[in-house]
Amino acid sequence: MPDKFPKKISAMFDEIAPTYDKLNHAFTLNLDKKWRREIADNLIRSGMKFDTVLDLATGTGDLAAELLRLFPEKIVAADFSAEMLEFQRLHKSNKIIELVRADAAELPFQEGEFDLVTVGFGVRNFHELKRCLLEVNRVLKTGGMFVVIEMFRSGGILNSLFDFYFSRIMPVIGNKVSGSSNAYTYLSESVNNFLTPEEFARMCCEIGFVLTQRVNNFLGIVNTLYMKKS
Ligand SMILES: C[S@@+](CC[C@H](N)C(=O)[O-])C[C@H]1O[C@@H](n2cnc3c(N)ncnc32)[C@H](O)[C@@H]1O
Repeated sequence: MPDKFPKKISAMFDEIAPTYDKLNHAFTLNLDKKWRREIADNLIRSGMKFDTVLDLATGTGDLAAELLRLFPEKIVAADFSAEMLEFQRLHKSNKIIELVRADAAELPFQEGEFDLVTVGFGVRNFHELKRCLLEVNRVLKTGGMFVVIEMFRSGGILNSLFDFYFSRIMPVIGNKVSGSSNAYTYLSESVNNFLTPEEFARMCCEIGFVLTQRVNNFLGIVNTLYMKKS
């Protein structure tokens, strides 16, 4: 199980911030852009109104940028890595998006402040997952949406296939290009040690979310879960 000490995780993302987008697009053959776009498309299609939006674990901000298409009155992009936020500020600056440095385990927001909370490829890295999910639940309005896109652990033959890709190919290229000694080794370990989508959905249900839709991508390794706060 990889160490998930908050300082260690945030330092790792600080280190890879300059090359994060480039490697992300390369490793997913640009599909990551499509997955984020689809989240905004689905939310628009739902017909719901999202005046207040929080993109948590926002990183370099690609999901937050897609969420602008929902025309929210307020959109907050929060992350605990100063360098990921700085990259977003420098390269994707947008007057409407408010950048906030915060740990998901202790969000500096009011109860019921948001109509929508999204987390893109972040929950796998949360150091206290349940506590972070409880925080998301707290800052969401009742009836508000919680959308998570993540690389989950899968089973069977796919696991072996992706294990080879994640543990043999990605670390070699990722660590070299990013200049990090272990970030992309951590990535493969964190996927292998994370929950399956079913286990994650169950945990969310216990906390008070209702799963409304699940979308499989990348042969089921990447899943998007749409949940409602009940
Ligand atoms: C893999 S990146 C994802 C970035 C972006 N959401 C995307 O879709 O590409 C994960 C991000 O989660 C952030 N993160 C991890 N744990 C966190 C926590 N406990 N609180 C806030 N941010 C966290 C990291 O700093 C990093 O920027």
